Amino acid sequence: MQANRQPSVKNSSITIICDNYATRDDLETSWGFSCLIKHGGKNILFDTGGDGVVLSKNMAKLGIDPASIDLLMISHQHWDHTGGIYYVLNAKHNMPVCVPYSFSTRFKEDMKRYGAELIEVKKAQEISPGFYSTGDMKGLIREQAALLQSSVGTVVITGCAHPGIVKIVKTAKTILPDDDPALAMGGFHLLHDADNNILKTIAHFKNMGVRYAAASHCSGKRARELFACEYGDHFIPLGVGTIITPDKLQ
Ligand SMILES: [Fe+2]
Ligand SMILES: [Fe+2]
Repeated sequence: MQANRQPSVKNSSITIICDNYATRDDLETSWGFSCLIKHGGKNILFDTGGDGVVLSKNMAKLGIDPASIDLLMISHQHWDHTGGIYYVLNAKHNMPVCVPYSFSTRFKEDMKRYGAELIEVKKAQEISPGFYSTGDMKGLIREQAALLQSSVGTVVITGCAHPGIVKIVKTAKTILPDDDPALAMGGFHLLHDADNNILKTIAHFKNMGVRYAAASHCSGKRARELFACEYGDHFIPLGVGTIITPDKLQ
């Protein structure tokens, strides 16, 4: 797939709504991940955290109206990413929901009962202008990651990165070969990894030209420490309430 346009990031932002880390005291933490992506003129919700009550409270405090969401993407079928899905589907009928093709039939049928219009992804594809799915990637748990194509490079957003965070970034580079990876963010699933494995991952990141890293959710405390150490001011300590504006990722 060849990149043919790079949407401006002037009005793009990524707001963390659910995470087990926080950067604001007035928002609730809970195990899981969710963020609102504004890009290419669309409001895209990526994952829904593990608890619909926490999702709804944090959205209200962040001034995010669930009815304003144009598209929902679910990375993988784990409770800490799907927990708030029915809150979102209840708020807006006929919501387009982008899911890996491998999701269970039962879960797909449940979402449809709530009015979801499923976009089932097998291979990498552009879902909305400048917004891509990596496709239904193989791993211990199958998962898709989100890619924002932009004038500052590719932003890679992962839920848990079960297929492997390095594999996901490599895949991003094959999908958008003309763009450098500006940022990799989300759950990197390194919470059980020893220091040498985490440091190998960081070395791969640097070799792949990842300019900024924002390890959160299931990345683990140690991975956050080592990424912070190795990336310096190019490490973003992600948590609930963080707002990333890609135009600053120069
Ligand atoms: Fe997770
Ligand atoms: Fe997971």
